[in-house]
Amino acid sequence: MKNMEFRHKLTVKLLFTIVISLFVTIAVMIVFSRLLFYLYSSMYSPTEFSAFQGGLMFVVWIFIAILTFILIFILLVSRKVKYLKSISETVQHIADGKLGLTIESKGKDELTQLVQNINYMSEELENKFIHERQLEQTKNELITNVSHDLRTPLTSIIGYLDLIKNGHYNNECQYQEYFETIYSKSERLKNLIDELFEFTRLSSPDVSLNLSKVDLAGLLQQIVGEYIPIFEKDQLYIRSSITDEDIPVLIDIEKMVRVYENLFMNAIKYSVKPSDIQITFVSKGNTAVLQVSNRVDFPPGEDVNKLFERFFRGDKARIDAQGAGLGLSISKRIVELHNGKIRAEYKDGWMNFTVEQPLQSKDV
Ligand SMILES: Nc1ncnc2c1ncn2[C@@H]1O[C@H](COP(=O)(O)OP(=O)(O)OP(=O)(O)O)[C@@H](O)[C@H]1O
Ligand SMILES: [Mg+2]
Repeated sequence: MKNMEFRHKLTVKLLFTIVISLFVTIAVMIVFSRLLFYLYSSMYSPTEFSAFQGGLMFVVWIFIAILTFILIFILLVSRKVKYLKSISETVQHIADGKLGLTIESKGKDELTQLVQNINYMSEELENKFIHERQLEQTKNELITNVSHDLRTPLTSIIGYLDLIKNGHYNNECQYQEYFETIYSKSERLKNLIDELFEFTRLSSPDVSLNLSKVDLAGLLQQIVGEYIPIFEKDQLYIRSSITDEDIPVLIDIEKMVRVYENLFMNAIKYSVKPSDIQITFVSKGNTAVLQVSNRVDFPPGEDVNKLFERFFRGDKARIDAQGAGLGLSISKRIVELHNGKIRAEYKDGWMNFTVEQPLQSKDV
């Protein structure tokens, strides 16, 4: 529809230019004929004028008229033609790969509209290209990191299996020890693969949430209760302050529980032992705020926000080979899918993780 309108407008403009050129030509030719008439009548008498000369003059007159028309027409459209030429050259450059190239937009007519569309297309193509390149780079990084992380436990599994296969163990106890190591490394391998799978699944743009309305305070009280014995086994003592109020939120329970569990498991893995773990949960305005804090000897990195980058592992985690470094990046993605925010900060020997989520209005 817009295309038709555009074509019609162009046709009307072209016709208008032709009509103007015609009128100007007629005016010029009237002036020119009068001039010619006066010139001839002052130089020759009408009897000296032969039919041949008359015919010749008519042909010359027509020729001059056509020439005048063409000249005036070219003069009227020359600016547009030049503009069209520069548009066509830029489009050619864009087609050759110079994405992001734009044309200066002049005036306020259909060509300006065309130029704006070309500029928009060029910029969009450039953005898409950059995005594609970033995706490609991310994918390559992911493959490199994954191959490295998967190879480590797999190499030791093969190593221990080799020892068993060749009978390189002194007694049943050592055999059992090798066997235990193989089992724990296999479990780690499985965890890595599961996390990786979850990470790629959540990274997909069309990931869907299975939302349901829950009282988050109640849910957190239940999860924290289940974790108390696990914390205590590691000499960690929970100081929890979870509001008794009903805090309604709309969440994908399974996914959000994963976020809370990763925060608790991290607190267990990376805190100083024995020490306290602080868990607070309150509602502030329209937001539910959960804070999990644990003691650390030193911050896990210079910039704690890097913890949310995939495959980031602090020194302690790397030395102990405890995790894949995916937990917090998965958590961030999940929280953001719920329109929430997650952040970390280090202060005076405490690592604090805060999760903010929008509250669901009570009447929904
Ligand atoms: N509560 C915490 N206290 C101190 N450091 C932490 C804490 N939580 C996370 N970190 C640091 O942040 C890094 C990233 O954490 P993240 O949960 O993403 O990965 P991970 O625990 O190493 O592995 P996994 O994928 O198994 O969760 C950890 O390796 C650790 O160095
Ligand atoms: Mg973790």
